[in-house]
Amino acid sequence: MKRIAVLTSGGDAPGMNAAIRAVVRAGIAMGLEVMGIRRGYSGLIDGDIVNLDARSVSDIIHRGGTMLYTARCPEFKTQEGINKAVETCKRFGIEGIVVVGGDGSFRGARDLSLKGIPCVGVPGTIDNDISSTEYTIGFDTAMNTAMEMVDKLRDTAQSHERCSVVEVMGRHAGYLALHTGIACGAVSVLVPEVEFDLDKDVIEKIREIKKTGKKHFIVIVAEGVGGVEKIAEHIEQATGIESRATILGHVQRGGSPTVRDRVMASQFGYHAVELLNKGIGNRVVTYVNNRIGDEDIFEALQMKKIFDVEEYEMATAISI
Ligand code: ADP
Ligand code: F6P
Repeated sequence: MKRIAVLTSGGDAPGMNAAIRAVVRAGIAMGLEVMGIRRGYSGLIDGDIVNLDARSVSDIIHRGGTMLYTARCPEFKTQEGINKAVETCKRFGIEGIVVVGGDGSFRGARDLSLKGIPCVGVPGTIDNDISSTEYTIGFDTAMNTAMEMVDKLRDTAQSHERCSVVEVMGRHAGYLALHTGIACGAVSVLVPEVEFDLDKDVIEKIREIKKTGKKHFIVIVAEGVGGVEKIAEHIEQATGIESRATILGHVQRGGSPTVRDRVMASQFGYHAVELLNKGIGNRVVTYVNNRIGDEDIFEALQMKKIFDVEEYEMATAISI
């Protein structure tokens, strides 16, 4: 392989820039030319592609977002769209692509691979919801952002002796919610993976803990559960504790990446280029048992992520 390209796709995540930088610099170090595809698969369809050298990725390791922009591209899911993308690769002499994104983006990479363009997926999403890997770029930064925000909400909840019900992102997954809940000492964490009874698991618990002298409460609700306004109203009516609902939203996607995200992104990006440089495509980079590795892209997309119920039970046990 002589020329490879990198794109970011789906929701942006802090650390994507560090991954782009690693891909570009690893490629150059291995004697490859590296191109940047802008706006994910849209740029691949439209030929919105730039040359990247070592200097074009200077001064981005500490920045959130993605210098290549990102997009959700419905056209890429059509035969016509994918054929256009393959044409673009031929026109630009692109022989392999590093796709940084979530499992939707990996499905696109799988389809491109089937058309003869070797792709390597790098897990990048704040949701940490990719089955083949224990870590995805952006998760740590998003958790830290959510934690800081909830700490601020705690100050006002404490002053007013209120209950603060906070929705955190995660799409259909509860990992961001669980870890934010543990880190912020939430009385309850509601996630889509674990069934709950609002009256028994939240209201009753708050009533019992109130008897021990606790006067303010944090409830973390995953986006996949939703309904924070209704939950807050119900808590207020049932317990008499004034309650407020907050949806943290896209603030969780921004900001300077943490050490963990910069380092993981650098390692993931480097590993992806190592694979392409050896002529190996159709893989996704993984982090399993504290080791960077890779997995067949087709198999990776078949895997199912198991929610850590023991960790959830631990969180429930210590929030009394
Ligand atoms: P993420 O990568 O964060 O999961 P999305 O699910 O929005 O984000 O996917 C990002 C893009 O990947 C989509 O806009 C589309 O271009 C491509 N994609 C998603 N799902 C598929 C699919 N099943 N087949 C082909 N391409 C897909
Ligand atoms: O996948 C990242 C994520 O932020 C999810 O947590 C959330 O459900 C979704 O993207 C929001 O997407 P959008 O940027 O389209 O609002």
